[in-house]
Amino acid sequence: MSNQQLVDAAINVRSHAHAPYSRFAVGAALLTRSGKVFVGCNVENVSLRLTLCAEQGAVSAAVASGERDFVAMAVVADSTEPVVPCGGCRQMLAEFNPDLEVITSTPNGRVEKYGLNELLPRPKQGILESFRND
Ligand code: THU
Repeated sequence: MSNQQLVDAAINVRSHAHAPYSRFAVGAALLTRSGKVFVGCNVENVSLRLTLCAEQGAVSAAVASGERDFVAMAVVADSTEPVVPCGGCRQMLAEFNPDLEVITSTPNGRVEKYGLNELLPRPKQGILESFRND
């Protein structure tokens, strides 16, 4: 699976975005170590605060299919600068792989690559221990 193929999957799913309020359609494609791709698009809501990001949708689809070992994610939106995941999505991705590769692209091929570890250098972690009392 090349980066371009992952970006293409994000471009395709972006056409399903439900973004009547922002008119900012986003597509995301998440690659697992086993070579599977899970996709998501943003799903807005009239409340605005219930809006789901494309990245969240892709993570949810993968986890619901029993996949948690993620190696890369592509995100596509039609912005001047390639879009980067919001803070909440960075934390959601870091839950599964804080070193995930993040490829972000505009539909006309302006591409940037980041490590999730540079987008979210200090993810929240380590609370499992405090939930245990054995
Ligand atoms: N959005 C995403 O889905 N992913 C991003 O990385 C950036 C923002 C969505 C949320 C909202 O529906 C719209 O884009 C504008 O922020």
